[in-house]
Amino acid sequence: MRKALLFLSVILVANLALAQDNPSAGYMKRYNEEMQRTQWWRDARFGMFIHFGAYAVAGRGEWVKSNERLTTEQYQKYVDAFQPYAFDARKWAKAAKAAGMKYAVLTAKHHDGFCMFDSKYTDYKISTYFNGRDIVREFLDVFRAEGLKVGLYYSLIDWHNPDYPNVGNHPQRDDKEYAKRKFDWDNYLKYMFNQVQELTTQYGKIDIMWFDYSFGEYSGEKWKASELVKMIRKNQPGILIDKRLEVNPGVRGNVRTLSDLGDFETPEQGIPDQPLVDKYGQPMPWETCMTMNGVWGYSEMDKNWKSPELIIHSLVNCVSKNGNMLLNVGPDARGNFPDECKYILREVRKWMDKNHESIYGCGACNLPRQDWGRYTQKGNEIYAHWLYPYLGNINAKGINADSVKNVFMLYSGAELPTYKTWFGDNDRDNLFIRTGNSPQKPYEYDTVIKIDMQQ
Ligand code: GLC
Repeated sequence: MRKALLFLSVILVANLALAQDNPSAGYMKRYNEEMQRTQWWRDARFGMFIHFGAYAVAGRGEWVKSNERLTTEQYQKYVDAFQPYAFDARKWAKAAKAAGMKYAVLTAKHHDGFCMFDSKYTDYKISTYFNGRDIVREFLDVFRAEGLKVGLYYSLIDWHNPDYPNVGNHPQRDDKEYAKRKFDWDNYLKYMFNQVQELTTQYGKIDIMWFDYSFGEYSGEKWKASELVKMIRKNQPGILIDKRLEVNPGVRGNVRTLSDLGDFETPEQGIPDQPLVDKYGQPMPWETCMTMNGVWGYSEMDKNWKSPELIIHSLVNCVSKNGNMLLNVGPDARGNFPDECKYILREVRKWMDKNHESIYGCGACNLPRQDWGRYTQKGNEIYAHWLYPYLGNINAKGINADSVKNVFMLYSGAELPTYKTWFGDNDRDNLFIRTGNSPQKPYEYDTVIKIDMQQ
């Protein structure tokens, strides 16, 4: 009897283990829905983030109110002086589109609480101070007209609303008098819900809602996140929501799983070293957001710009791991993109013009990493991104040369001769590609070699 019980429980445990290794039908249904919903976005791979607000006047980044512990009264001079008369959504949209970006996300409200839209729930908004203009609406209308998908960033944190307590990095976090105030949390949530309702009903189709951010107990149901998500999905079926309504959403221990509170993860200023996968090894949607210097909002202090090469390499790095890149611009207080951003975008444009095929609709390729760079893949097309200085032939090791139809330079379409053996290396899985003897990569920043595999 005891033996039989032991036997039964062993079977039970074995079955449980098995069940954990195989997603249930219900999980797979949800997973497939998630992948379908994010399909356009995963194909797009490249978007623009725009941090635009009154903080541009201070010119010390969007955190200035918190960093310098400014009161709302002290901050008011920036709000008053914020007259972005050169703002022209068309110019922005054209720059984004030309650089090959397929979508853009604008800050509708950042942590400072100043609204860039004509909300009926507050006067602390751009339309009060800037000739009645609604910058969010102008952005949405124009970007959509250019054929770009549109998203709005909305800060959950609010350093202006009197009902938002002086918690976390609130500018008045050390102000004992301020702490004595009565903060009506439900009232703040009502304000937040009203504004999100406004943005998702009064502004046409919104493709992405980008919330920022959760910390400590200010996470998930503290924001009434389930109700909020339900409301948004009702207003905007098909919308994508980032996963910052929760601290580490969908990550339990080290295991990733689907979340009801968002569609994609948002690693900030860094790129994971592997594709992000769920507990069954299936790819999970993610997007790295990245600045061109070190700050999101305009900074007069930070002239430490990343090189176009690093930006392009980072984009390729993301795509090679099934990820997206949301590249940020912090327009200045006049509403112009900084010249350095324009320069980077122009260089990205040059590269994308000839090489976008290796980005859109592409993802990870199951080949070992090589010294010369990275791969991206779309169906039968493998793209070898030659990123790093390298001498001699490039070996796309792991590809069976007999299954290769064609190998050519993506930028020019010129064929590249290939060899199975070189210098005594007779391994079966070699694909040496002759790249010439030039000490420079033939195409600046990233030379893409397209390897056309047979069906
Ligand atoms: C952070 C910062 C914020 C920025 C955002 C972009 O959470 O607080 O200033 O908007 O990341 O990802």
